[in-house]
Amino acid sequence: MTEPASTIVILTGAGISKESGLDTFRDNDGIWAKVRIEDVATPEAYIRNPTRVQEFYNARRAGLKEPNVVPNPAHDALARLEKDWPGEVLLVTQNIDDLHERAGSHNLIHMHGELLKVRCEYCDALMQWEDDLSTTTPCPHCGRKGGLRPHVVWFGEMPLGMDKIYESLDTCRLFVSIGTSGNVYPAAGFVQHVRYRGLAHSVELNLEPSQGATLFSEAIYGPATEIVPAFVERILKDGIPAP
Ligand code: APR
Repeated sequence: MTEPASTIVILTGAGISKESGLDTFRDNDGIWAKVRIEDVATPEAYIRNPTRVQEFYNARRAGLKEPNVVPNPAHDALARLEKDWPGEVLLVTQNIDDLHERAGSHNLIHMHGELLKVRCEYCDALMQWEDDLSTTTPCPHCGRKGGLRPHVVWFGEMPLGMDKIYESLDTCRLFVSIGTSGNVYPAAGFVQHVRYRGLAHSVELNLEPSQGATLFSEAIYGPATEIVPAFVERILKDGIPAP
């Protein structure tokens, strides 16, 4: 086993929120089966038709506030790991929902942004936002209209928090990927980055093998609400396996 105060880096994707009632992207019933990325999730789409893009995120923001959409046992288990593990646990999520926060995770990076935040393109104000947004909503800070956009990283834009993420990937002893298909970089490349260093045990927890499945030291397949709590229990009891 490695020393007890080791750093753990966890990457989550849409699969961890599926059992909370939120759609994934690439499953057969996923978001990209219903709407094209090029129409709603690129800077070009926003310039071409801002109302279409705002409406797409308004619907997802409203969906996130549905009473039945709550953290599930997988989110809860990761919050417990952060609380009970003696070393640092950095949770990097590709998700823009707030279920990790609501479960109690704090050391968290939303590398693709947050659905419940908006930013003003005129004054750069970043603010919590739970309601609909339109192309004429005035910015509460600078008062100008038409500058508020979802604080979400679109395809072709730079993900957030990358310096801290790579710093932690360089020092971690355990890298865990949960509920992601491994289709989108740079997140899909994190396991390779850890593997090159040869100092960490890497585990994939998913419903089925991801694109990068063969790169992991270990893989556990099944619904997140079952396999994640059991995995956290094991790590807290037995520690991290040597790489
Ligand atoms: N438990 C565990 N895993 C699940 C579950 C579940 N209940 N349901 C689905 N999965 C798995 C699927 O098998 C799939 O491998 O979750 C993964 C979801 O993959 P995607 O839909 O591609 O979502 P994600 O990997 O998070 O997408 C990454 O792509 O579109 C962009 O910005 C978007 O952040 C997103 C990024």
